[in-house]
Amino acid sequence: MTEAPSFRLAGVMGWPVGHSLSPALHGHWLARYGIRGAYVPLAVPPDRAEQAIRALPSLGFRGVNVTIPHKETAVRSVDRLDAAARRIGAVNTIIVGEDGALEGRNTDAFGFLENLRQASPGWTAAGGPAVVLGAGGAARAVVAALVDGGATDIRVVNRTVERALELGDVFGDRVAGLAWKDASAALDGAGLLVNTTSLGMAGEPALDLDLRGLPTEALVTDIVYAPLLTPLLDVARKRGNPTVDGLGMLLHQARPGFEAWFGVTPTVDAALREAVLAAPAGR
Ligand code: ATR
Repeated sequence: MTEAPSFRLAGVMGWPVGHSLSPALHGHWLARYGIRGAYVPLAVPPDRAEQAIRALPSLGFRGVNVTIPHKETAVRSVDRLDAAARRIGAVNTIIVGEDGALEGRNTDAFGFLENLRQASPGWTAAGGPAVVLGAGGAARAVVAALVDGGATDIRVVNRTVERALELGDVFGDRVAGLAWKDASAALDGAGLLVNTTSLGMAGEPALDLDLRGLPTEALVTDIVYAPLLTPLLDVARKRGNPTVDGLGMLLHQARPGFEAWFGVTPTVDAALREAVLAAPAGR
């Protein structure tokens, strides 16, 4: 019934979606690998998301990335979930199978770990306690990544302490939920500090945290990448901590989708970073 399309089609579904860096990212790889295909932004309002996801096979899409606010809707709209999507409770990558079935994956945890491994080769999740600021969807992916990477002491600090405690319920006794007032104390002896809150993002208040208790060898990273140098990373760098910015997580989480849709395992390198940062949405 369907013709085998030689033109490969994928995209990113969100609302709004104009700010997404994913078209520039995948567009760079498509050009670099000489692939006949396209990766397009799909602006889909929340009340149409399920319908739009279900229509992907009929439209000839090989799949899409899913971004805010559709990541949870996508969990309910696909035919099967991979283990990461089930555990994190969110889908960021949809693959249309040969049979037209929709597979929902979550590659955020993969992206987080791969970014740290590439940017800071000596670092391992098992190397010391990790402090995670925030307990939203991004924090769930980070905690899943740390658990899979072998971390045994993960301290989740959140303004709403109940959400931090919930992560302990989901991920087990390696994860302790703490209130925001305990943040400075939680830094004691840590090997990693991760910000997953929106604090420090352009237009949001800065993340104001006393880092005195944090060992200067601890790796500090932020999932916020606009600006690249967040106030947290700036303070950490000035006191001598190694830092990794958040753009790499975005670049690495894109790899599994690109490979599934376009058939090439793509590389994350300086040229990709430059292309993404030069994109109109990245400025
Ligand atoms: P995401 O899915 O991107 O993680 P989210 O689920 O809205 O988004 O989570 C945002 C995180 O940033 C939460 O941990 C939130 O804290 P609450 O759970 O208490 O809301 C945190 N956050 C946002 N604004 C904050 C602020 N001004 N101070 C402290 N934490 C904040």
